[in-house]
Amino acid sequence: MAKSAVNRIGILTSGGDAPGMNAAIRAAVRTASGLGIECVGILRGYNGLMTGDFVKLGEEEVKGITGRGGTMLYTARSQEFMTDEGFQRAVDTCKFMGIDGLITIGGDGTFQGALKLAEAGVKVVGIPCTIDNDIGCTSYTIGFDTACNTAIEAVDKLSDTMQSHERCSVVEVMGRRSGHLALSVGIATGATITMMPEFPTDFEKDVVNRIRSARIAGRTHFTVIVAEGIEPVHDIAKRINEATGIETRVTTIGHIQRGGAPLVRDRVTASLMGNRAIMLLAAGEGGSVVVMDGDQCTDLDIKEALSMTKALDPDAYHLLSALTAGDV
Ligand code: F6P
Repeated sequence: MAKSAVNRIGILTSGGDAPGMNAAIRAAVRTASGLGIECVGILRGYNGLMTGDFVKLGEEEVKGITGRGGTMLYTARSQEFMTDEGFQRAVDTCKFMGIDGLITIGGDGTFQGALKLAEAGVKVVGIPCTIDNDIGCTSYTIGFDTACNTAIEAVDKLSDTMQSHERCSVVEVMGRRSGHLALSVGIATGATITMMPEFPTDFEKDVVNRIRSARIAGRTHFTVIVAEGIEPVHDIAKRINEATGIETRVTTIGHIQRGGAPLVRDRVTASLMGNRAIMLLAAGEGGSVVVMDGDQCTDLDIKEALSMTKALDPDAYHLLSALTAGDV
């Protein structure tokens, strides 16, 4: 066995949880164990890194967690870590606890923290994990597929009752500042209208007229998917009711989208990424993030990765428009 560049790797999950976090932790621990590297779990994200809140993380601890939602390491959004003092405490804890490699699993905020640590000389590798799928450097983030499927199941069920009552369902899906989830859910459920922050909606033209023409063409129930943060869904429902006379009902799917057993794509992607993160650290390569480039699991320099932005997939957007236009 080639000698590893690191002996003790800390693993933390931070930010909003996502289905697949546990699978990534397990893959990292098992890969490390095969290389003779010790892993420790850092509890509650960067908070645990500042306070030294560590737990043993060996093969026994990660047994049977691949299929479990949430994160066994707990998670948090740490304000204190972003202060100079809090950050320095985290760097000192790494040294004091003999952490010579760190894996941070989470979304954009988690990656910002990882970049700061990398710049301070900590060997860190980020794993993108958020239901929002909004990280520029990777075509896919762990948790997105499971969250989409949870939302789709809810919208399908809503559609049944809307059909019976000839109503309009206004459904809020997650995705603060990004419409990736809304776009996929809109396509997959054949929604009448999909509202995403990336494309401003003209209420009269894109919502009211669209519902009116769908009704003229024979449609008797309607679904409006709204990415959170665009406009309060109750206001949208009220405006639709006032403009069309159609009874509306509001559903916020909310945090249900963040839970549940991860589906195959998330389990497999998380396993690939957890494995690669350890291989990078073992080879002495910190300051990077693991990413998906299509179906390929690869890695990028963390600074370069964080400068990248992600637009909504234009093909998917055109597909949504084409299908919506014909869906009466
Ligand atoms: O970042 C993931 C996400 O689910 C967003 O889509 C959502 O806006 C946010 O987290 C909500 O997070 P919380 O309720 O944990 O603050």
